[in-house]
Amino acid sequence: MRFPFRNRAVEPAPAPAPAPAPAPHEDGEALLEAVGLTKTYAGAAGELPVLSGIDLTVRAGEIVAVLGRSGSGKSTLLRCLAGLIPPSSGTVRYRGTPLTGANPGTALVFQTFALLPWLTVRQNVELGLEARGVPPRERARAAGQAIDLIGLTGFASAYPKELSGGMRQRVGFARALVVEPDVLMMDEPFSALDVLTAENLRGELLELWESGQFPTRAVVLVTHTIEEAVLMADRVVVLGTRPNGTIRETVEVALERPRDRDSAAFDELVDRVYRIMTGRPKDTRPHGRTAPGPGPGPGPERRTVAGTPLPTAGVDGLSGLAETIAHRGGGCDLAGLADELGLDIDDLLPQVDALDLLGFAEVHGDDLLLTGTGTAYTGADAQESRALFAAAALEVPLIKLIANSLGDRPGATVRTGFLRDLLGRHYTVEQTDRQLETATDWGRYAGLFAFDADRQEYRPHTPGPGR
Ligand SMILES: Nc1ncnc2c1ncn2[C@@H]1O[C@H](COP(=O)(O)OP(=O)(O)OP(=O)(O)O)[C@@H](O)[C@H]1O
Ligand SMILES: [Mg+2]
Repeated sequence: MRFPFRNRAVEPAPAPAPAPAPAPHEDGEALLEAVGLTKTYAGAAGELPVLSGIDLTVRAGEIVAVLGRSGSGKSTLLRCLAGLIPPSSGTVRYRGTPLTGANPGTALVFQTFALLPWLTVRQNVELGLEARGVPPRERARAAGQAIDLIGLTGFASAYPKELSGGMRQRVGFARALVVEPDVLMMDEPFSALDVLTAENLRGELLELWESGQFPTRAVVLVTHTIEEAVLMADRVVVLGTRPNGTIRETVEVALERPRDRDSAAFDELVDRVYRIMTGRPKDTRPHGRTAPGPGPGPGPERRTVAGTPLPTAGVDGLSGLAETIAHRGGGCDLAGLADELGLDIDDLLPQVDALDLLGFAEVHGDDLLLTGTGTAYTGADAQESRALFAAAALEVPLIKLIANSLGDRPGATVRTGFLRDLLGRHYTVEQTDRQLETATDWGRYAGLFAFDADRQEYRPHTPGPGR
């Protein structure tokens, strides 16, 4: 089925006339191009890069997944490609023409469905067409087709509150597809849904795509789930956070569709992407302790606040992960562990980073191995493990800075404003907040300092059994 309004409001500059109904997998025309795309947001001491020099081309016939950890700039990249925010430098082109505003060839599906509660399903779907000036009868016809295509027949006159999450997201899809965008852009469209609903929707979308009925020529899917990326995409673009917002690697997924999640080839690709996601420049740990394998020497950045960002991982979570590895004999492979525990990569990797930063575990390939200190930490009683944690945490620059600034002087304080200014030279406000939250959690647990949330200041810990 083709929709009647393909590119109706899209009058791209002189572009070769597309074939009347191109099979989605065939033509390979460059639809979207980002060249040297850089985006910065304001930090305490000027502009901070969130995307740095991204080069990316999206071609007709492909599904491109953009994969990255929380804060790596995925949504920012998608918004730049959709022309919703301007790049700080570099260019985004749609069919060869640089964007000057919203990209006429894209439509977005969001994680939260963003439906208007006072409109019916049909009216919500028609919204995009209304904005493009499509007359009412044609709107109704196109919306009807989109509603049928996406499995909402029978729900057309329902209101969003009557629908389950999965059905609401179908409305999100129908609303984007009804305008027949050249490129459908999805920002974590399945992550607000329960596992089974998400799986079902993914399957249906892939079936439509493979059958050639999908009224769009390419898809960009933002996700933080490796399996989802490997299941759906022809190409997985992995964004890295160190340095900020760069393409760490692009992985071609040449597996035949429909893909078999249980096949060895699928597993192999998932493992490979895992390795790319967990791989880190060797200078990010403050010290290479008892690691097996080639321990890197301290690099120039290692002991600085800028070079050692604190992950978003509380003591309970990282300790739980350490215990889990200990129960598995001191080592396990990350993909298998995530699968077994039903965890998303976003749930797991911050804890992995935390253990690595503290010198309690190391990542080798896609295996996570406890170090000697890590093994001691998991085996010790509460007081000992707190002491081990304190020693390890004191090697983390931000925590060391707070603890050293306080010293042993009873009335000393360190205000978060001071730390915010310092961190703000290297990190965005949100990244700064998250790091301070972690530092506070770790430092309090370790008995290194106390924190007064009302006054937003750190104080020396009143000496107790843990110190
Ligand atoms: N409008 C903004 N102003 C300032 N900083 C921002 C803004 N939007 C995003 N950021 C920061 O830019 C970084 C990248 O954000 P972005 O939302 O693109 O990441 P993401 O990869 O989509 O993360 P998530 O997986 O959590 O959705 C984050 O550190 C965030 O704090
Ligand atoms: Mg995002």
